[in-house]
Amino acid sequence: MTQPTTTALGTDMQQAARDHLWMHFSRHSVYEEGGRVPTIVRGEGHKIWDDQGREYIDGLAGLFVVQVGHGRTELAETALKQAEKLAFFPIWSYAHPAAIELAERLAAGAPGDLNRVFFTTGGGEAVESAWKLAKQYFKLTGKPKKHKVISRSIAYHGTPHGALSITGLPPLKEDFEPLVPGAHKVPNTNIYRASEDLRDDPKAFGRWAADRIAEAIEFEGPDTVAAVFLEPVQNAGGCFPPPPGYFERVREICDEYDVLLVSDEVICAFGRIGSMFACEDFGYTPDIITCAKGMTSGYSPIGAMIASDRLFEPYKSGTNSFAHGYTFGGHPVSAAVALANLDIFEREGLNDHVKENAPAFRRTLERLLDLPIVGDVRGEGYFYGIELVKDKATRETFDAAESESMLRGYLSKALFDAGLYCRADDRGDPVVQLAPPLTVGQAEFDDIEQRLRTVLTEAPNHL
Ligand SMILES: Cc1ncc(COP(=O)(O)O)c(C=O)c1O
Repeated sequence: MTQPTTTALGTDMQQAARDHLWMHFSRHSVYEEGGRVPTIVRGEGHKIWDDQGREYIDGLAGLFVVQVGHGRTELAETALKQAEKLAFFPIWSYAHPAAIELAERLAAGAPGDLNRVFFTTGGGEAVESAWKLAKQYFKLTGKPKKHKVISRSIAYHGTPHGALSITGLPPLKEDFEPLVPGAHKVPNTNIYRASEDLRDDPKAFGRWAADRIAEAIEFEGPDTVAAVFLEPVQNAGGCFPPPPGYFERVREICDEYDVLLVSDEVICAFGRIGSMFACEDFGYTPDIITCAKGMTSGYSPIGAMIASDRLFEPYKSGTNSFAHGYTFGGHPVSAAVALANLDIFEREGLNDHVKENAPAFRRTLERLLDLPIVGDVRGEGYFYGIELVKDKATRETFDAAESESMLRGYLSKALFDAGLYCRADDRGDPVVQLAPPLTVGQAEFDDIEQRLRTVLTEAPNHL
């Protein structure tokens, strides 16, 4: 399929990209120096194509988003129909059927009494909304000092000021200080980097890691802490699943100190781990779920904060209201597309497909452990991180310069050149991350493994 190489204004597409498009989280120097801007023009299933006609496996579902795969006409047609009928109306004191139905459907799929759905346009806004709700809820219920939040080191929770404060990645935050005060960090559940006495005992490690939350609450003062934000499987750092017993203990701690447990499922919800909401995969009931990405499989943007009945209680009476919102929150087109997306999940049994095939995906990726550079393969469902190490025996990682030359100088481009779009990330220790559309199976696992093998075999020569 030929692609236009010039824009409507007659400029070369690459030149226009260099001159005008400000890409997110990007080093533009590469393009200023004449590098091609990778430009994706089409997707079908788990494949994407660039402007030069080259084909790639979408090993990251865009950005942990495209659960049902690319090119679903049904979702495009749903968007068209909804836009024709009612393209826009806000949910500021008004409603529209798509938002009502989606709220009901999400509540039905959420565990416990998480029955109230507050729509946003994305994940960071959902996290932001959850912190604000936690603060106001405690003010309305007689515990006005409770405002602080606890989250984990290296975790990413978004870029608005509040969500960035919750994020545990100092390099992403430094340039935007001062951020929102009151956000405290505890260790994450990276057992590969746990102390030697805990490394081989996941249960003890889980207990240790959960108890750090209790300790932080005690340090800060229980009457000042409002919420704990945790991903079911932490993305940044390379897919840290919860050790056995971790969430059970966290739930106990939150109950003991009356601290809200927020399950940030912006990545993990909608089948990524195997269930509609990943807290179910790990057997805990949070007070709030934040979600976005996979809700529409990316065919239109939307996010949500889903809160328990208890948290909505104060808003049922008098003049109380949650004075918070977004013009495009619960957008009719996005809400309609989300409903159609969830229909596809049900019709095609995508969650069961993930549950059945996840062990095979893991086994296939674990074959890479025979390479000297592959230290660890970890994750759950269709969500894996492959940690790269300098020395497997000692688990020694790369220094900043080595990481720079290998990850940025070689790996990212080499993987793309090998026809695999995925993510080489050094926000923690260097990892390659995989989260393909939920439709893939063994043939694609093998294909991904083969392409990774070729590139990772070469990687040590590029230090
Ligand atoms: C766990 C988590 N929370 C929040 C966000 C922010 O979502 P968004 O980019 O839609 O604002 C992300 C984005 O990747 C995420 O992974």
